[in-house]
Amino acid sequence: MMITDIAHYLQTQGQIIEQELDRLVPLRHAPYQQLFDSARYALLGGGKRLRPILTLTTTRILKGDPHLALIPACALELIHTYSMIHDDLPCMDDDDYRRGKPTVHKKHSEGHAVLTGDFLLTYAFEILATHHHLNAEKKSQLIATLAYRSGSDGMIGGQVMDLEYEGKKVSLDQLRLLHRHKTAALITASIEFGGIIANATPVQLDHLRQFGEAIGLVFQIIDDILDVTSSHTKHGKAIASDILNEKSTYVSLLGIEQAQVYAQNLYNQAIQSLKSLPYDTSLLIGLADFILERKH
Ligand code: IPE
Ligand code: IPE
Ligand code: MG
Ligand code: MG
Ligand code: MG
Repeated sequence: MMITDIAHYLQTQGQIIEQELDRLVPLRHAPYQQLFDSARYALLGGGKRLRPILTLTTTRILKGDPHLALIPACALELIHTYSMIHDDLPCMDDDDYRRGKPTVHKKHSEGHAVLTGDFLLTYAFEILATHHHLNAEKKSQLIATLAYRSGSDGMIGGQVMDLEYEGKKVSLDQLRLLHRHKTAALITASIEFGGIIANATPVQLDHLRQFGEAIGLVFQIIDDILDVTSSHTKHGKAIASDILNEKSTYVSLLGIEQAQVYAQNLYNQAIQSLKSLPYDTSLLIGLADFILERKH
């Protein structure tokens, strides 16, 4: 698929996700209304929606029903947004901009940012558990997958390694493990979600996981490159944040050029994993192209 078509696809699918998030997190009048204000502030009007779009797309290519995938896809975006709110806190990366706007702790307060993240995390599991159109077995599979991929052996474990390695020299193996946890885990979950909803066989799920892991690593390598090459307006977040925080990244370890080569190799592996699936995977290939070539 051409990159212009993919841009159009991302835009239309992103709108579908945005509408559903708007419906799922309405403004509510309550003594704690501020919670909904800041949740909507963080959640709406920004973000590429890559993870939910991967879920919708995987469901679609496996000939499942994308309508059934909409709420699970949004659960992933809730978890991702919570992780960003906490990642930006002064005790973590201490960043002032996210998705082109001041971060939640800048706009509201640190306490509100912590609680808004907690709310989105908790709510993600609520909307999965109460999803009316999926059977109990599928729901529990989705819940277990999301908990595993965002927990200690996934995103949270990765964020801990990220903190531990600040200011230290790490090996490429350590960095790969960090990034597999911190970023690739949730991206893998997004693809697994599509597989579960569309009744993929265990073997097909394995191929999908391999694709997810590889493309998730590509995503983080490009994020590290953009941290040093992009501009604030394009990226919507602070630039050179990694250097300031003495983070170990693919760029600090390999340099921009070698990091790019590494990303290209992983992209090739990702595409190879799709070849074993008996479906037309061109939409997923298009998303992989976007992940490799994105400029924001
Ligand atoms: C940024 O994720 C954090 C990483 C895991 C690298 P995205 O680049 O997907 O952020 P949004 O959702 O588009 O803002
Ligand atoms: C954060 O990684 C990834 C998470 C899982 C929260 P980064 O710290 O590199 O993300 P950005 O660059 O702030 O978006
Ligand atoms: Mg971080
Ligand atoms: Mg950060
Ligand atoms: Mg980054």
